[in-house]
Amino acid sequence: MKINLANIKKAQKLLNKRECVAIPTETVYGLAANAYSDTACKKIYKLKRRPKNNPLIVHYLNNQILKNDCNFNNDFIKLYKKFCPGPITFILDLKKNSRISKIVTNKKNTLAVRFPKHPITRNLLKNINFPLAAPSANVSSKISAVSSDDVRDDFGKKVKYVLEGGKSSIGLESTIIDIREKPKILRLGGLEISVIEKILNKKITINNNPQKISSPGQFKLHYSPGIPIRLNVKKINKKEAYLSIKKLKESKPNFYFLSKNGNLKEAAKNLYSTLRKIKKDKYKSIAVSKIPNKGLGKTINDRLKRASKF
Ligand code: TXA
Ligand code: MG
Repeated sequence: MKINLANIKKAQKLLNKRECVAIPTETVYGLAANAYSDTACKKIYKLKRRPKNNPLIVHYLNNQILKNDCNFNNDFIKLYKKFCPGPITFILDLKKNSRISKIVTNKKNTLAVRFPKHPITRNLLKNINFPLAAPSANVSSKISAVSSDDVRDDFGKKVKYVLEGGKSSIGLESTIIDIREKPKILRLGGLEISVIEKILNKKITINNNPQKISSPGQFKLHYSPGIPIRLNVKKINKKEAYLSIKKLKESKPNFYFLSKNGNLKEAAKNLYSTLRKIKKDKYKSIAVSKIPNKGLGKTINDRLKRASKF
């Protein structure tokens, strides 16, 4: 995608004035503000109607800049070298003298950090002198936005500016890993766990459903398209939309598919936009056929399962 410098300048100006701007990332769109400013970060919570106890991910250009705010360890450096910029978020210890707003962390002494790969957002980060706090650009508990139109559908004119970046290439939120001690996955995401294990050369525990919630992406109802979803369906009810991983031989107006040939990467990319489309097409419920529970299929199933707790 061509980089439009005038658009980036516009986003930069608003962010410098402590406003919120929606930004494209390769995972999903984010609702961004200056992570060093209480005023700016409060606006994110208000716009998103996000509970105050749900901390934000902070987006950095690189780990040199992150050094001001967080402590690193060897596991972090290994994963950073291999996967960043990319769809992985690290939970790290916050430095005592960090300037990160207490609004971002909910006064915790840890910080979720990510290095987005999208060239437009990287260019924006180069042109501002603060990192960007940005949760997914959707109303709390609903489906994330993977295009500028999705953001506008959710927020209308309430968002001062949406920086155009095309459709998000991954389409699922980042994988969250708590890397401070024994590595733990807190949210399945766009980066597969097996590839992380390979680099760290150790087994990683998945803490995706803990009793004590440390990452509200784990709250039960989340990622909801706003209509009921049934999973692993073999028999469709009348008037239901039917969603399958690959294109079926038979085609009907209520049949939707995630990828022509059942490719999981492509399916991930199309998941949220297809759920949004079904809702727009006025269906009142969705039946989903079985999705292979491997690789990114695990993340797709995780999101659908949470979305089905309607
Ligand atoms: O791909 C992504 O991660 C996108 C793009 C915009 O970067 N962002 C995103 O943010 O999905 P959000 O806010 O929708 O989800 C972030 C999750 C939340 O569940 C939050 O509770 C968790 O990260 N989180 C934030 N700070 C944390 C911390 N210090 N410890 C544990 N979990 C944290
Ligand atoms: Mg979110």
